[in-house]
Amino acid sequence: MTLLSSPRSGGPPADRYPPGSDAFPHRGLLGIAGLAPHEILFLLDEAEQWVELNRQRHKRVEDLAGLTVINAFFENSTRTLLSFEIAGKRLGADVVNMHAAQSSVKKGETLIDTAMTLNAMRADAIVIRHASSGAVRLIADKVDCPVLNAGDGQHEHPTQALLDALTIRHAKGIFTGLAVTICGDILHSRVARSNILALTALGADVRVCAPPALMPEAIEAMRVTPFHDFDAALKGADVVMMLRLQQERMQGQFIPSPREYRHLYGLTPDRLALAKPDAMIMHPGPMNRGVEIDSTVADLVGRSAITTQVEMGVAIRMACLDVLTRKARGVVGWE
Ligand code: NCD
Repeated sequence: MTLLSSPRSGGPPADRYPPGSDAFPHRGLLGIAGLAPHEILFLLDEAEQWVELNRQRHKRVEDLAGLTVINAFFENSTRTLLSFEIAGKRLGADVVNMHAAQSSVKKGETLIDTAMTLNAMRADAIVIRHASSGAVRLIADKVDCPVLNAGDGQHEHPTQALLDALTIRHAKGIFTGLAVTICGDILHSRVARSNILALTALGADVRVCAPPALMPEAIEAMRVTPFHDFDAALKGADVVMMLRLQQERMQGQFIPSPREYRHLYGLTPDRLALAKPDAMIMHPGPMNRGVEIDSTVADLVGRSAITTQVEMGVAIRMACLDVLTRKARGVVGWE
């Protein structure tokens, strides 16, 4: 078994994290909660080689050849599913996508039965997206292979936070002291939660901004500064991350109207001028142009990192699939 069977870019600095599998001792990736800062950095560093590979004409290695990755998506997704599929294929794995609409879930099968079925098919890694917070852990407890959380309800979306961190690192170099403003539906957003956990762990100064109805109670406990006034939250920001209103998770009326919402919380060119002159603009997608973000801002060349986020997403997912299957592949140092 080879440790390095694909083109590598010199490798990450060895003194940042413990040697061998101690660098990332977890069986799966269920969330950012529970990860040490050096473990987050390890995944970011591992992703760099895949960023490089993905920029080549030939984008495939054979590290995961013969392994089966199942993407079990119980909730709609475009970019995350595609990103995991491309990541698995570029690593040489056989990738199978299971959409809930085509599965027995619609016929009333319990989540545990679905998990046991996936397990019996001897998947080597299972990527799960589910509308219920905690569903991914439930499945992870029932299967023998590593499980990666691709978004569970309002809970966590760890690969999104990792790809966002990698995007920020590419643009800004460091996290310490960086003012990151996350604005939108903080209450229902797993992206906000995972990003808060990752960015505070890495030393960024995170501000969250939302209308009172869309701000979780006691959010200060997550070591962030809450704002209801978007202008105030933007002052001096290095990074502005905009989030969609998660209508599908709202029961009842949370905002007066999209027009009113844009007026108070939409990122417009005028508002952006309150942030640092080189502040970068981020959005995990899907975007509602003209609601939380204006097109002129979303497409601002040199400032908007939205397409870079998508690019980093593939590299991060490759890093996660690679690292989490190392033990099963008998990679030296991961036994
Ligand atoms: C996010 C998600 O699904 O949580 N999207 C994504 O993964 N790219 C954010 C969202 O749906 O608003």
